[in-house]
Amino acid sequence: MIPKTKKLIIYGESAYAQMLAQYFQTDSEYEVVAFCVDEAYKTEDEIKGIPVVALENIEIHYASDEHSIFAAIGYKSVRTHKRLFEKIAKLSFPIASYVSSQAMVDESCHIGVNCLVLAGCIIEPETLIEDNCFVNSGVIVCHHAVIKAHTILASGSLIGGHSTVGESSLIGFHATVAELLELGEETLLAAGSVLLNNTEKHTMYAGTPAKAVREHSDTGIKMLPKALQNKG
Ligand SMILES: CC(C)(COP(=O)(O)OP(=O)(O)OC[C@H]1O[C@@H](n2cnc3c(N)ncnc32)[C@H](O)[C@@H]1OP(=O)(O)O)[C@@H](O)C(=O)NCCC(=O)NCCS
Repeated sequence: MIPKTKKLIIYGESAYAQMLAQYFQTDSEYEVVAFCVDEAYKTEDEIKGIPVVALENIEIHYASDEHSIFAAIGYKSVRTHKRLFEKIAKLSFPIASYVSSQAMVDESCHIGVNCLVLAGCIIEPETLIEDNCFVNSGVIVCHHAVIKAHTILASGSLIGGHSTVGESSLIGFHATVAELLELGEETLLAAGSVLLNNTEKHTMYAGTPAKAVREHSDTGIKMLPKALQNKG
C-alpha cells in the first residue's frame, strides 16, 4: 500500500467516478476524502462512507492548501468533460492526475493535470499528454505522439508514433491511429476502426480504413452509440 500523503476530492459521483476513487484509494498517495457534485444534482450524502458535498460549498469545507481535486464527470459528452474540467480549474485547489502503477510510462513523457493513465497502458518516450486526457486501460501511445487536451482514448486503442490527436477527440475501443497523422479537433474514431489519413475537425470516422461518416460541429462528440444514449 502506498502511504497516503495527500487528500483528494473527486468531482462526480457516477460509476466511473467511483471506479476512479477505487484506483486513487488503492494505488496512489491520495486518500479520497469527498465526492462533490453541483448542488442541483446532489441526491445522496455519502457513497461507501465517503461524504458527497455540493461543489458550491467545497472551498468552505476543504482547505485548498491541504486538498487536491480531480474532475471525473462528463462521461457521455466530450464537450461536458471539457466544460467541467474548466469549472474546477477556476477553483483554488491543485488538480491531481492518476497514473496506474501497472502502466509503463517512460520518464521522458509529459502528462498534464486531470489526466488518467490506467493499468496496462504503454506510453512510449517523448510523448505529450495534455490536461484532462483520459487514457483508459491497455492503450498504447507510441513515441513522440501528442494527445491534445480533453481527449479520451478508449481501452485498447493505439496512437502511432509522431501522430497528434486534436483537442477534445475520442478514439474508440480498440481503434488504431497510424503514425505521422494530424487529427483535427473533435475527431471521433469509431470503435475498432483503423485510421490511415489525417482528419477534418468535428468529424466522425469509422471502418478499416476509416472513412468520414458525418460531422458534429453542432453537438460535439456524444460518446455512446445513438441506441444507448438514454442509458449509462
Ligand atoms: C462512433 C459511435 C459512437 C457511433 O455510434 P452511432 O452514432 O450509433 O453510429 P451510427 O449507427 O449512426 O453509424 C453511422 C455509420 O457508421 C457505421 N459505424 C458506426 N460505428 C462503426 C464502427 N465501430 N466500425 C465501423 N463502422 C461503424 C455504421 O455502420 C453506420 O454506417 P451506415 O451509415 O453505412 O449504416 C460508435 O460506433 C462507437 O464506436 N462508439 C465508441 C465506443 C467507445 O469506444 N467508447 C469509449 C468509452 S471510453
